[in-house]
Amino acid sequence: MVAWNDNITPVFAFGLTTGIALTAATQYLLTALVGNNRKQIVEVPVPSEPLNGHSLVRKESGILTQHTRSLLRLEKEFTVSGQRLQTLVRHMVQEMKKGLAADGHQLKMIPSFVVRRPTGNETGSVLALDLGGSNFRVCEVYLEGQGRLRMRHRKYVVGDDLKRASGRVLFDFFAEKIEGFLDEIGADKAIERNLGFTFSFPVGQPALAQGHLLHWNKGFQCEGVVNRDVVQLLAEALNRRNLKIKVTALVNDTVGTLISHAYTDPQTHIGVILGTGTNAAYFERIEEIGKWTGPNETGEMVINTEWGAYCEPSVLPITPYDLALDRASTAPKMQIFEKMISGMYLGEIVRYVLLDLISTGELFKGRGSKKLDTPYNFETANMSRIERDHSLELSDTKAVLEDILGIPTTSIGDRRVVKTVCELVGTRAARLSAAGIAAIVTKMNRLDACTVALDGSVFEHYPHFANRMRDALREMLGITAENIILELGRDGSGQGAALIAAIHH
Ligand code: BGC
Repeated sequence: MVAWNDNITPVFAFGLTTGIALTAATQYLLTALVGNNRKQIVEVPVPSEPLNGHSLVRKESGILTQHTRSLLRLEKEFTVSGQRLQTLVRHMVQEMKKGLAADGHQLKMIPSFVVRRPTGNETGSVLALDLGGSNFRVCEVYLEGQGRLRMRHRKYVVGDDLKRASGRVLFDFFAEKIEGFLDEIGADKAIERNLGFTFSFPVGQPALAQGHLLHWNKGFQCEGVVNRDVVQLLAEALNRRNLKIKVTALVNDTVGTLISHAYTDPQTHIGVILGTGTNAAYFERIEEIGKWTGPNETGEMVINTEWGAYCEPSVLPITPYDLALDRASTAPKMQIFEKMISGMYLGEIVRYVLLDLISTGELFKGRGSKKLDTPYNFETANMSRIERDHSLELSDTKAVLEDILGIPTTSIGDRRVVKTVCELVGTRAARLSAAGIAAIVTKMNRLDACTVALDGSVFEHYPHFANRMRDALREMLGITAENIILELGRDGSGQGAALIAAIHH
């Protein structure tokens, strides 16, 4: 669970009358953008959303029931048409170019200092520390050559207390677990070792093994870390334990996923995470990175896009529910794209929609529950269960709603509505992710052949997510979408960090 401010804005405070609220949405984000970044917003005309006859909502014998009417409204709000996807791709490409030219734009386009692809012939043993969103891992990676590697690792859950602890407590915890891991595998601690540090948050990176945290997200709020070099903080914590470990690379999880997949498949040009958070990295030509003033050793460098921060209100299909979620979040007005896509937030969007339908008496006869009233209690894993439920009576959906969430009683009609809401929110997330990928492929001009390595709980476990992404890619890119291969790159973030530490050392 995430820490919440006491002053959570009630969801209905700004009213959910669609027209008014959407104007408010645009206004809210415009203020956010102009206020924070002092930039001019590019106006992009957004077409209305034709549903192309693919409506998810059943109309019962031509009579619109109250349920149906609400679902049609929700469908309109959450559907991202093919046309809007195309607009989104064009606009994201523009933003990518701006971010490559200079700092201070929506897309940070952070140079990663990773300038080499693995050959597959790297050998040796390297440590990795991989901090994602909900957990972190300590790994030992053996590079065996010929594109083969083995890995031993231990996984630890990052609890809420740790997410709110001081930076020193956080980094001491990492050092403690690294030492415990070395003891467990019987490593000789007198030997100096290299470590690749996967740190899945936005950092400004002046060197491969240096990077100051720009801001926390995904519910982290540890004090004393923002604007500090996280490699140094880790090195100090390792020193306090007298561990002979040198942090030789600081790597974003998308960069790690990309490099680890490229170790076995050289056609891999993009790495994407769709998990607790979301982001993408890709190989860019140095001459395209206007803001880069360093050397040009290999002609290319991996760029960490930090696409989660994309927030163009005139292009993104932002609903009143997204705004309510954003206002109540630990980092309002930030990571808007991420808040529409990633696993930390999808269930929460659904929760807001359900609360709205309960408040008007359209769902569960107007009776909710304490559990459903609690922020982040409707987990994205619940959506997966509901979307996977194809039983006649939607019995698993019933179990989620009644047993897990404590709703006193649900009708089959209620359960159908909840399932449709999950489908709408899940499909929108998949289509927006696909637009991000299409933008990168377009920017790279790699429409002929490109493997995308993807990892994260949403991509791996959310039902139909990958297929919905493929459908959207086909709508955006036509037949060329067949050249874009989406592949699961499981556990690549830690492996990639170890590989980068090995290649660049
Ligand atoms: C972070 C990214 C990270 C992504 C996936 C986002 O919240 O800003 O740096 O790559 O989550 O973990």
